[in-house]
Amino acid sequence: MVFLWYDSRAGCRFINDMLIFLFKRINIFRHLVPKGIFMQANFRKTDFIPQPKAAGDANKKTVIAVDGPAASGKGTLARKLAERLGYAYLDTGALYRAVGLATLESGGNPDSWQDVQTAVAIITRNLTPELLASPALRMPEVAEAASKVAAIPEVRQALLDYQRAFAANPPGNVGGAVLDGRDIGTVICPNADVKFFVTASVEERARRRFEELKSTSPDKGAILSQSQVLADLKRRDERDQSRATAPTKSAADAYVLDTTALNAQQALDQAISVIRAKFLSETNDNAAALRKPPQP
Ligand code: DC
Repeated sequence: MVFLWYDSRAGCRFINDMLIFLFKRINIFRHLVPKGIFMQANFRKTDFIPQPKAAGDANKKTVIAVDGPAASGKGTLARKLAERLGYAYLDTGALYRAVGLATLESGGNPDSWQDVQTAVAIITRNLTPELLASPALRMPEVAEAASKVAAIPEVRQALLDYQRAFAANPPGNVGGAVLDGRDIGTVICPNADVKFFVTASVEERARRRFEELKSTSPDKGAILSQSQVLADLKRRDERDQSRATAPTKSAADAYVLDTTALNAQQALDQAISVIRAKFLSETNDNAAALRKPPQP
């Protein structure tokens, strides 16, 4: 609560700092306020990120696009950014995975629109956070099917509205949304406030995916070798980058973040500095525009 207030009302910073001081110093408060508030009260001043609200449009939601190839670290980064900024998070790859899984379960061919269309109709009617978080979506055969259904223009069209509506009106009445995928900055939200394109060498991505597979599904890790995972990734990269509709590519105005030699925290730190610099300059621009006397 204090965090949101702090972030959105820079003018009330003094009162807020006083409250934080009291929360930290006066022991008796510990018994009176919920624990969550105490945790937020430890929020450091250096963490402050201004909100880039367009002057006069207090309802505008901030959108952060995180695109990149499989296992580049974009999912981890996007999730951490959303947590850090208090925004809603959407893993758009899970939408394609859900369609891919439903197609496989119906015995259909994920390359054929004819076979995929019933699955798309069912999935678009039943998109829930629980469905998108299902562990079954993480299986390698589902990733392969997802990449195939994602190359069908009708599938992309059917999933477009859900993604745009999520960005414009994120659940939970929060200030913004972080979406990760392949075409967020280029097609879904071309006007996103900040865009990242996350990359890493294909060998490093294969290593990460192999480790993830071993820890989440030991039997799959034993069956698939790291070189098989590398071959799968290369094949999927090629299909995702060469398809005619919305291929994986960096938007011209995206910040390219190479995570080959970075851990998750370092990638997050870099992304936060990019966001802070961008929002600060916009806040200053807005303030300067508001200060300007009206032109005759
Ligand atoms: O990010 P992921 O590995 O969960 O994505 C699964 C597949 O879905 C991937 O091969 C590409 C496709 N995809 C897409 O085409 N567009 C998106 N916005 C997200 C994923």
